[in-house]
Amino acid sequence: MSAPEVLVGVIGGSGLYHLDNLTFVETVNPATPWGLPSSPITISRLPSGALVAFLARHGIGHTISPSVVPSRANIAALKSLGARAILAFSAVGSLREEIAPGDFCLPSQIIDRTKGIRAGSFFTGSIVAHASFADPFSKKLGAWLEVKVAEALEKEERGIRLHIDKTIICMEGPQFSTRAESLMYRQWGGDLINMSVLPESKLAKEAELSYALIATATDYDSWRPSEAGVTAAEVFKTLKANASTSRFVAAYVLEELARAVAADPSLMSILSEEQGSMKFSI
Ligand code: ADE
Repeated sequence: MSAPEVLVGVIGGSGLYHLDNLTFVETVNPATPWGLPSSPITISRLPSGALVAFLARHGIGHTISPSVVPSRANIAALKSLGARAILAFSAVGSLREEIAPGDFCLPSQIIDRTKGIRAGSFFTGSIVAHASFADPFSKKLGAWLEVKVAEALEKEERGIRLHIDKTIICMEGPQFSTRAESLMYRQWGGDLINMSVLPESKLAKEAELSYALIATATDYDSWRPSEAGVTAAEVFKTLKANASTSRFVAAYVLEELARAVAADPSLMSILSEEQGSMKFSI
């Protein structure tokens, strides 16, 4: 029996290993031409009836390092389940004083500091294609999330702020940056830093999926002269404190999105990524 069509795929990052308040439908583990996804995929029903598919980017039990996340399998698996869009979650370091640990961010640009060791395209065989990547995140989905994530955070009443239109540096890891690198990224115009948004966002573009990242700032990286540099313990401490907010935000925006498109099908355009002449199917 084939899995039912899902509306949105959710990729949970560090600290977000499941979603709350959804009705479990089934777990699937689709084999793709690029292997198995990072984790089995949980398909759940939202209160409004729409289906969402969730996978844990770093695997169940956080066993997959950012450099070896099977992003092609993850994106292909979500696409094969019918997902129109991907809502990704990730912990990020802050390169700006005003973005405090615990704050939420919606980046709009990416600077690639991965080292070319990640499989970053579906088009590595005899088919050559060049996807536009000027806008690495879906503008339509981003504009909608700007309103809805802010609403969710307001409802939570924890005073958590949302920053929009930020530039995220994606670095290789697994080690964090040196102080010199952290300062350099600030000079480049970087606001946030993580190890996971690439090649995920590139692959979502190639697969013609709307892609947005909801990032949680966990630390100030290593650019503040009088502070100790970031540690994994600091990142996980902030994530733990914010995990319930991340789950609340995820559940809220997914349900709002499903309700909106059910009430007005023209809003499905939020979930359609234009790719011009390039056609892609999995
Ligand atoms: N993820 C969370 N914090 C980070 C940092 N400071 N650098 C890279 N990735 C991160």
